[in-house]
Amino acid sequence: MCGIVGYIGPKQATPFLIEGLKKLEYRGYDSAGIAVFDGEKINVDKSVGRLSILEKKVEQHPVAGQVGIGHTRWATHGRPSDANSHPHTDCTGKFVVVHNGIIENYLHLKEKLIAKGHVFKSETDTEVVAHLVEEYYQGNFEEAVKRVLSEIEGSYALVFLTEHEPDKIICSKQDNPLVIGLGEGENYIASDIPAIISRTRKTYILSDGEMAVLTRDSVWVMNRQGVPVNKKVFEVHWDAEAAEKGGYEHFMIKEIYEQPKAIRETMTGRLAKDDSAVLFDELKWTEDDVAAIHKIVVVACGTAYHAGMVGKYYIEQLARIPVEVDVASEFRYRSPLVDENTLAIVISQSGETLDTLAALKEAKRLGARTLAITNVVGSSIAREADQVVYTWAGPEIAVASTKAYTTQLVALLLLSLYLAGLKGAINPDRLKELIHGMKELPGQAHELLEDVQPIKAFAQQYGFCEDVFFIGRALDYAVALEGSLKLKEISYIHAEAYAAGELKHGTLALIIEGVPVIALATQRDVYEKILSNIKEVKARDAVVIGVAMKGDDAIAKYVDHTILIPATDKFLSPVLTVIPLQLLAYYAAITRGADVDKPRNLAKSVTVE
Ligand code: M6R
Repeated sequence: MCGIVGYIGPKQATPFLIEGLKKLEYRGYDSAGIAVFDGEKINVDKSVGRLSILEKKVEQHPVAGQVGIGHTRWATHGRPSDANSHPHTDCTGKFVVVHNGIIENYLHLKEKLIAKGHVFKSETDTEVVAHLVEEYYQGNFEEAVKRVLSEIEGSYALVFLTEHEPDKIICSKQDNPLVIGLGEGENYIASDIPAIISRTRKTYILSDGEMAVLTRDSVWVMNRQGVPVNKKVFEVHWDAEAAEKGGYEHFMIKEIYEQPKAIRETMTGRLAKDDSAVLFDELKWTEDDVAAIHKIVVVACGTAYHAGMVGKYYIEQLARIPVEVDVASEFRYRSPLVDENTLAIVISQSGETLDTLAALKEAKRLGARTLAITNVVGSSIAREADQVVYTWAGPEIAVASTKAYTTQLVALLLLSLYLAGLKGAINPDRLKELIHGMKELPGQAHELLEDVQPIKAFAQQYGFCEDVFFIGRALDYAVALEGSLKLKEISYIHAEAYAAGELKHGTLALIIEGVPVIALATQRDVYEKILSNIKEVKARDAVVIGVAMKGDDAIAKYVDHTILIPATDKFLSPVLTVIPLQLLAYYAAITRGADVDKPRNLAKSVTVE
């Protein structure tokens, strides 16, 4: 995720660009930049680091100009650096572009452009767009941009400015947001409403495939073929704070709803079009590399550790490589048995968790190969690990991790299938079936989020109970752990997760009349077993909420309430099963009046031991 702004009008552009970017820093904050036309040429100022660094820079060397574009970056292609910051320019410096998204075919386009003599200055996917518009410009900016849009593949919100026609800004979007703010004799562009709300409340919300040409006095919206689109003005009624959360009450619920997109983006470019293989350009492992891995250790904290528990099932069952999972704070104090035939996978949303970083260093010291799964490009963990697989969830602001978890599961599944393919441990038809199923996940997650009313009702009904138990078997057990952590950390209800077969070895003593038990029953291989565990707790008068897959007609007979997730493969179900549990935790916290985004005693990133 990145943030984009643009201004054209009679006022100075820079103050709005900086003010707008500040409101968009939640979308990314590893570097920032602006480009302003000063009447003769375009001046680009950009800098790695927080926006305040750019702000100081432009204060010291202000550029007067009434048209400009800006960007705050959340690195995807290319580490955070001055060169990789946006805006990007072509060879002549006369065309500038800012981008939010991923240009999937950029390598191919870059090769073609280099062959034609274009010189690249950054490692980003975005820079190809600036060179393409230079290549296609023949005196008509709009036509050049249309041609660029017809060549690029992927997701984008793009804004273009050129010295050749400085009386206009052009923008377009596909799968990433872009809003146009309509002023009097001036117009604005932004990734999100908070950036423009102090200037105007009249907006056009661009739809996928639309392109807009902004001048001081007009906004023309058309499709990519140039056919005009009649846009309705969307009047914003939210206050500024609500606007930052996209109209949601909390970042947590906003991030829960961002999961379909985050899941899709994490798979983007990593699945063969014909479903036959997982592609990991960033790894490029050979069969020999994989044969040399005798054992995998997965190390992480909190939610990321729970993702690792799911990862153990994935890797062992699909790739048939033994896996140990450890909490990072324990790993380095237990003299772990790790050597050069061990692959250490560390998982961390922030990439800055100190325990995880220290465990990574210890694994390296012991000779292991290391791989990080993280959401933050250029983070300490990303820099320390030998190799990195990024989750493309975008910045996660709420302390309670949601979209980071589901994207970590997707990354682990991709990795397991990649290992399985290289080891020949998976039948090609089964691989195809799973990849096909993965491609359905974003749509299924979306479907789950369409009707949250029943979950809200359970949360209201049971929100004031003192204890909740989560039970499950196999992959459902791993998801139960995450469900219980979510509930504890934001609602402060005491919650425990158990492998359902373990209850009878002690915890069953705590199951008394009215205690809520959330029973996950999505795994067909152990379905009969979980049903008997449900009977055990029902016999002690627990209230059972069963989470099962659509098509399961039996579950309702055994439980008090049922939540059904879309039908999917057993390996894919954790990505969906966790969503109602996140919602349950969220609405329970709301019922209890808790501070959802900032739970007591916790911090988003734990950089102390
Ligand atoms: O940034 P990380 O993934 O390394 O963070 C690890 C944990 O601190 C984190 O998952 C924590 O458990 C969350 N608050 C859970 O929602």
